[in-house]
Amino acid sequence: MISCHSDIFKLDTPHTTYLFRISPQGHPEHLYYGPGLPETGDAANYLFNRGQRIPTIVKYSEETPTLSPATGLYEVFGPGKGDLREGLFRGEWGPGGNTVFDFRYEGYRIEANAAPADPRLPEVRKNGAETLVLTLCDAPTQIRLDLLYTVYPDSDIILRQSRVRNDSREMLTIRELASLQLDIANSGFDVLTFDGAWIRERHPHRTPLQTGMFSIASAAGTSSAEHNPLMILSNQEESYLVSLVWSGDHRESAEVLYGTTRVLAGLNSATFSRHLFPGESFVSPEALMGYSDKGENILSQSVHDFISRYISPEVWREKERPILLNSWEGMGFNLSEEQICRQADATAELGIELFVIDDGWFRPNDACGLGDWEADPLKFPNGLKAVTDYIHAKGMLAGIWIEPEMISTHSKLFVAHPEYRVQCPGREPSPERNQYLLDLTRPEVIDLLYSVLEPLIGDNGFDYVKWDMNRCTSDDWLEGGYTPEFRWRRTLGYYDLARRLRTRFPNLLLEGCASGGARFDAGSLAYADQIWGSDNTDAVSRIPILLGSSYGYPLRTFGAHVSRIPNGSTGRVYDYETAFNVNAFGAFGYELDVTALTDFEKRMFSDQIAFYKQYRSLFQLGKLSRISEGNPIVLSAESETGDRAVVLYYVPDCTLTQEQILKLRVPSCRADRMYRVTTRRQWITNPEMCAKRGGPHLCEPFERIVPGALLRGQGMSLMPVFMGCTYAEDTAYFGEHGSRIFIIEEMK
Ligand code: GLA
Repeated sequence: MISCHSDIFKLDTPHTTYLFRISPQGHPEHLYYGPGLPETGDAANYLFNRGQRIPTIVKYSEETPTLSPATGLYEVFGPGKGDLREGLFRGEWGPGGNTVFDFRYEGYRIEANAAPADPRLPEVRKNGAETLVLTLCDAPTQIRLDLLYTVYPDSDIILRQSRVRNDSREMLTIRELASLQLDIANSGFDVLTFDGAWIRERHPHRTPLQTGMFSIASAAGTSSAEHNPLMILSNQEESYLVSLVWSGDHRESAEVLYGTTRVLAGLNSATFSRHLFPGESFVSPEALMGYSDKGENILSQSVHDFISRYISPEVWREKERPILLNSWEGMGFNLSEEQICRQADATAELGIELFVIDDGWFRPNDACGLGDWEADPLKFPNGLKAVTDYIHAKGMLAGIWIEPEMISTHSKLFVAHPEYRVQCPGREPSPERNQYLLDLTRPEVIDLLYSVLEPLIGDNGFDYVKWDMNRCTSDDWLEGGYTPEFRWRRTLGYYDLARRLRTRFPNLLLEGCASGGARFDAGSLAYADQIWGSDNTDAVSRIPILLGSSYGYPLRTFGAHVSRIPNGSTGRVYDYETAFNVNAFGAFGYELDVTALTDFEKRMFSDQIAFYKQYRSLFQLGKLSRISEGNPIVLSAESETGDRAVVLYYVPDCTLTQEQILKLRVPSCRADRMYRVTTRRQWITNPEMCAKRGGPHLCEPFERIVPGALLRGQGMSLMPVFMGCTYAEDTAYFGEHGSRIFIIEEMK
């Protein structure tokens, strides 16, 4: 997987090669990242802009009159030695604040099954992998930089990480240490980022890169709803992906200069710096890096596969998730033993497998209670165990909501320990939702939380926990330390508590959450089996969130629920079958008052649940492809061997489709096979159609035998449009925001 010949390092994954060399001056020069190279050939084939003299651009030395660092490709260079781009490292050393560094090759080693470089970071398993540790040294300061590259025999994802070691006698202040620098010999890419806000997280945005700097960052204290730590660069032929294994502030950038593109990903240097005393070292979070010349879907599939195999907690990583009922949107704070038992009866009757008690079990409203984690005795006079016993007796798993990183001023904890609230001395801390951050940089706070949460989960027999986090960071202060390290240390505190609870409860199904999906990242996925996708449960609004999330994260990790229509966040009226069709692609559940369902709704939901169970392995564990992201939106999830797939066909704007011949294209089908194409029989509730056919009714069965070549090429034609008055069995969708699920099965 990793070899070194004639100063060229070659990293081979099953389908890609990453190449760099040590230059005669000792700099790690990037040569190549692309399709697998059987042979390397001469390094001169790859060298970039060698010999080009550009006036004003600094040459490295008098002995190298043609070596201009500003136009080269490097694993790292400088800073302060003529490279005009931002780079992997920046720091100040010694009393004078030296900012010039010249990291040059010192040695390397290759480790098999390497131990974590910093066990406080989310663990990315390295079983079967090889890690190259390349050591560089800035001789005058004796600051060392290790660049780590981990290569797997069965994945095209390469893991990157950086470490700074202070072997000098002076203090080093780290201002920047990216997890990876990826120099690409070309420009002209589009950059894909996944951005938004509360209730519109991870919307995909495609921006053409021009000369200059493009960057996204989070300063929220979490990986954030505003900018996810995932970035993809694409042109017609090639795509590159970086994804940070980190849940706090981060920054990703792509800088185009002199025809090259430099990608950096790591901690956000605007909110982080670190004092490194003599003898100390500092390790960056890890980052995933991938390349494909077969399109963005292949890149997504390989990162999904990597997360499932090497990051997700062991027990649930390949296991189908239960269908859940969450109490929040249906019951809010109106929880009690009696209420939950009534809801649990109705939930079990529908065939739902997990009942989740959300916020409200320990407090009457959101103005109090965070930090105490004791069930409200008025609501639960017999304690929570009586309720979990009831839920278990109904044949369901039981789940509970917590928000451990927070404190309310109206809490016993605040009265006893006001100093546990994060606050900058001399200032009043700023609230959000009546709550403040608990200081997770203090080990005693982690111990205290563990001592409360361990019996809450263990003694009451909870099988599932929803771990929420409902505000951004402000008022930073690191007690007894250097405050620019606060957010990094706070994120490590979150991991510490999560790791301790996971170790104690390895079978627990843990769902992450942060006001919806504000902490959806590969770092959290080392502890959370799934993460609530968004507080926006309107399936129409969920489409861009599902699409965006699918670029970097497996379907099984994406929490998605059917909720009341009209929708509570958007007020939109659409139909429950589209709510199902969209949310089925994920870790599926319901979030509404199940005791208030009409008989018809009960029948429809029971049908949905039965269908979901039948195809759950595809919806959760299938290989996802985004087939069309416009109008219509088409997604497929297919089996490992490609013999079965479920396809979502959704039309955001039905007027536009009147100009098109609608088709079903499934590029993963094999050209030499025949396929049976059927649809899920869904309920038609459109008022006009119901008026004609005497009320809600099941759509007609639909079945066609179709050549794979037609499905993967031109596409099978569908009835073009529903005009509001009629439809046929092959109707592609039912009205505006309408959808269908097609089932594709290879004929044996
Ligand atoms: C956050 C979560 C919701 C719900 C509420 C409860 O907003 O995202 O799903 O748990 O908190 O207060």
